[in-house]
Amino acid sequence: MTWSLAALVLVVAAAGLLRWRRPAWYWLTLGVSLAVVRVLVRYASVMDACGLTVPPSRWRLTLARATNRPVPSPHAPRILRLRPTRTGLVLRLKLRPGQDAFDVAASCDRLRHSFAMYGVTSRELRSGVVEVRMTGYDVLKRVQMPAKVDTRPMRVPVALREDGAVHYRDYRVVPHALTLGATESGKSVYQRNLVAALAPHRVALVGIDCKQGVELFPLARRFSALADNQDTAAELLDALVSHMEDVYQVIRAEQRITADVPDAEIAADIWDLPEDLRPVPVVVLVDEVAELALFATKEEEKRRDRIITALARLAQLGRAAGIYLEICGQRFGSELGKGITMLRAQLTGRTAHRVNDESSANMAFGDIAPDAVLAAIQIPTDMPGVAITGDSTGGWARIRAPHTSLRQAVNTCNRYADLAPDLPALAPFRPALAIPRPLDAPAVESIPATA
Ligand SMILES: Nc1ncnc2c1ncn2[C@@H]1O[C@H](COP(=O)(O)OP(=O)(O)OP(=O)(O)O)[C@@H](O)[C@H]1O
Ligand SMILES: [Mg+2]
Repeated sequence: MTWSLAALVLVVAAAGLLRWRRPAWYWLTLGVSLAVVRVLVRYASVMDACGLTVPPSRWRLTLARATNRPVPSPHAPRILRLRPTRTGLVLRLKLRPGQDAFDVAASCDRLRHSFAMYGVTSRELRSGVVEVRMTGYDVLKRVQMPAKVDTRPMRVPVALREDGAVHYRDYRVVPHALTLGATESGKSVYQRNLVAALAPHRVALVGIDCKQGVELFPLARRFSALADNQDTAAELLDALVSHMEDVYQVIRAEQRITADVPDAEIAADIWDLPEDLRPVPVVVLVDEVAELALFATKEEEKRRDRIITALARLAQLGRAAGIYLEICGQRFGSELGKGITMLRAQLTGRTAHRVNDESSANMAFGDIAPDAVLAAIQIPTDMPGVAITGDSTGGWARIRAPHTSLRQAVNTCNRYADLAPDLPALAPFRPALAIPRPLDAPAVESIPATA
């Protein structure tokens, strides 16, 4: 008897310890089964308490009265599917007549407490069907990306969403993006994740890092062009604009429209071209964008205008030529001078890390999702890397990228170094790599690159 009691205490203590120190393992071992049982047992009463039930229909009441049976209880939405996942549960509900998706969304916080889950979100799948996603623990505290992700050309996983789903950066759906955040908020780590995720793909990476190249130059082996100061950046962007014009010439040459060419085969962007003719897509990563827009002298002002004009042209026309912009900075507003708000309007994807004031958050979301502004200000300082991202539906989500160290990103870039395409237009900016380093030298020194 005492032995079995001791064993029980040991199991409970081990479960408690696991839950505290390794919530993901706890979820996969014990948490998921307990949660399924809890949801199924409590479902009807919780739905009733949360006001998510409808009274029985009139004919049921009449039938009960006629047969002298007890009055039927109110109906909760029918469970179509209950699917356990790596991080939580996904519940698919069929709404009863008279209910709407907003009723469920408004009750998410109550459901979270009632089912003892960490987070609950809901979204409408189709009319009458709502998906409720629950997480069993704080998935953003220690981000672990699933082993299996749905990667496609120009669509890469970069972060985990707070509902446990993977956040993808899909360049063909959202060609250009802006990432804002205060200093030390995690922008460069986010960008590093992007580079590491894009490295195995057929894509040319172009980097502009005016912080003397400290973030992007260690990754130089996978880059086709790099710039670490404003002068080189201006020339590089001009070269990219002329590369874009060349790509348009290729598309034009392929566009011989005659009556016998089927509609679907008329090329309007690089993805319509046959694979052997398709120019390699280019992702342009800019870190600390404000550095490109600041000036002190008349000369520098001319250079600044040249840079902003080239960026605006790339944002305006780049998509069809397969040129995608990924811009990072602490602020990106009208105080940086003319042309900035126009450029910002063309950057569809918006991500905001922790910001210090409302006006910085407004630069990312003010014009698209006002409630995301509040969420961006509320990101705590002790959670670097947590960000708010606008999604394609007009909504927003809290995300966090995995903490990829510079060492890991360097290793990934070195492994795929031979995939870095040679673009003739960008050849002068190709990082020159030094002779192989001595074995005991630190990695970052091994690839001093000059643009
Ligand atoms: N996703 C993350 N998970 C855990 N820690 C992170 C994450 N992202 C960033 N950090 C931590 O925050 C620190 C600052 O990150 P990062 O250099 O990306 O900030 P930043 O926004 O680029 O700052 P700055 O504007 O000064 O360049 C990193 O050294 C890292 O320790
Ligand atoms: Mg940075």
